[in-house]
Amino acid sequence: MSTLRARGIEIGYDDIGEGAPVVLLHGFPFNRSMWREQAEALRETHRIVTPDLLGHGETSVTATATMEEMAQMVAALLDELQLERVVLGGLSMGGYVTFAFYRLFPQRVRALILADTRPQADTEEGRRTREELAQRALHEGMEAIAGMMLPKVLAPTTMKENQAAVARVREMITQMRPEGTAAASRGMAVRRDQSELLAQINVPTLIIVGSEDKLTPPADAERMQRAISGARLAVMAGAGHVSNIERPADFNRALINFLATVEA
Ligand code: MLT
Repeated sequence: MSTLRARGIEIGYDDIGEGAPVVLLHGFPFNRSMWREQAEALRETHRIVTPDLLGHGETSVTATATMEEMAQMVAALLDELQLERVVLGGLSMGGYVTFAFYRLFPQRVRALILADTRPQADTEEGRRTREELAQRALHEGMEAIAGMMLPKVLAPTTMKENQAAVARVREMITQMRPEGTAAASRGMAVRRDQSELLAQINVPTLIIVGSEDKLTPPADAERMQRAISGARLAVMAGAGHVSNIERPADFNRALINFLATVEA
């Protein structure tokens, strides 16, 4: 476990393994520990860097946390680690940051992994819900957010049969700082629509989605696959929105197969 300071921000991150670098960005309101199984599965063949995004885990809470600010933070971390070009992947909000990063620094991306995410911006109603969530985090605390989010992000089968996954996701949410949660929720509310970026993506791309993902459903993933030239799609049967925790073995297989096709 490491932290470093870049551009005035304390960044928590893990950096394990050796080989071609793969950077994985977590979802909201989680932290880098969500990538534990993927880091273990890839560490023999790859260097896996997993930062905590702004306001999450051990990284500083900032007044604003837009997807572009998070992408700049990732770039600052890569600069510090002297990583010029990486395979970049993100789940959900991590995917929004991945799009923002690709738009800002396409030359730094060797391949993309887009898990349980989507290119669209929020609707008006979605923005209102983000503000409600921000207020709730600030006034009622993270237990209330966990109670509200768990049944939305996890598949019904996971909720019933995989108490370890439920406890793990609950713990990530309840460890979040309310201020960091509010800043990221507001940052997501103002994110730009990245739909027209998809046709410009010219690196190998893997899209992953849980078959029971209600927030970014398989239909969104299929649309992204059609829009990104040559993109592969892997559907995690029985997983919800946190497909890497709900179906780690299937998720890892998809990652390993994809990375084997990405040239060194
Ligand atoms: C996430 O998992 O990062 C969030 O559910 C993303 C979102 O709320 O749009």
